[in-house]
Amino acid sequence: MDLKKINQRVEDFHQLIQKKKVTESAGRLYTGVDLGTSSIVLSVVDEKGNFVAGGLEKAKAVRDGIVVDYVDAVRVTRGLKKDLEDRLGRPLDLAAAAVVPGADASTKEVVKNVLEGADFTPKEVFEEPEAAAVMLGIQEGTVVDVGGGSTGISLLKNGRVLDSFDEATGGHHMNLVIAGAYKLDYQEAEEKKICEKEEIFPVIKPVAEKMATIVKNFLRGRDGKKLYLVGGSTDFKQIDQIFSSITGLKVEKPRYPIYITPMGIALALKEACDG
Ligand SMILES: Nc1ncnc2c1ncn2[C@@H]1O[C@H](COP(=O)(O)OP(=O)(O)OP(=O)(O)O)[C@@H](O)[C@H]1O
Ligand SMILES: [Mg+2]
Repeated sequence: MDLKKINQRVEDFHQLIQKKKVTESAGRLYTGVDLGTSSIVLSVVDEKGNFVAGGLEKAKAVRDGIVVDYVDAVRVTRGLKKDLEDRLGRPLDLAAAAVVPGADASTKEVVKNVLEGADFTPKEVFEEPEAAAVMLGIQEGTVVDVGGGSTGISLLKNGRVLDSFDEATGGHHMNLVIAGAYKLDYQEAEEKKICEKEEIFPVIKPVAEKMATIVKNFLRGRDGKKLYLVGGSTDFKQIDQIFSSITGLKVEKPRYPIYITPMGIALALKEACDG
């Protein structure tokens, strides 16, 4: 894993999203669609494996890996697709999505249907940590994905998920704690969490400690090798130390961990199509 190189790619991708820019693309385009609890993210790579476009929209169409509002999931995905096509001046077609590890066939089918509904040709539905592993360039270790709704943990070997576990503690729970401590409504708590990180961290520290304890318990008696933190809710600088002291494992976290899984989906699709 080359963290410096990954950080540069993620930083560039963040700029594409923020500035609504695209970069020059070569050959076929591959789109990754991440249907998350907090947002839907699209990432596009070209034939050379370069990220050429990306989009993010907050959405409530998915909860903990389950599409709860199919019509809205399609509407948001379609809107993001159209936006990127306009910017690229080219149509997008091949796409992949990802589900939580161990998701059943019908969950995968619904996700495929969302892509089809948004006029994509769905080629693959990956497991989220496998996609993250492709982006991180790792084959083994423990991927910890702390998103909006939950903490998902996956033990990987040879790039595949050996075992996984998911518990409902995520950014949503941080917001509830902040709302209670500062007497704010939920949305204000979400904003405060992102804009005043240093100030609020002591308040959410117990939530972070609980997340790290979930990981420690999952790994009991097994060698987790190293922890790779991904997902929007790992984006606090103090979190790495908490996870490493509670689990006793070395921690790696890329910049903008929120983008690792969505970027990984597009890269994994390209790899799958390359054979
Ligand atoms: N810069 C940031 N700092 C801290 N938290 C952040 C930041 N950006 C986003 N978040 C939080 O990260 C969460 C969203 O992360 P992510 O997109 O990885 O989750 P998701 O995939 O939508 O949810 P899930 O994986 O649980 O289905 C939200 O709770 C959001 O408040
Ligand atoms: Mg997620």
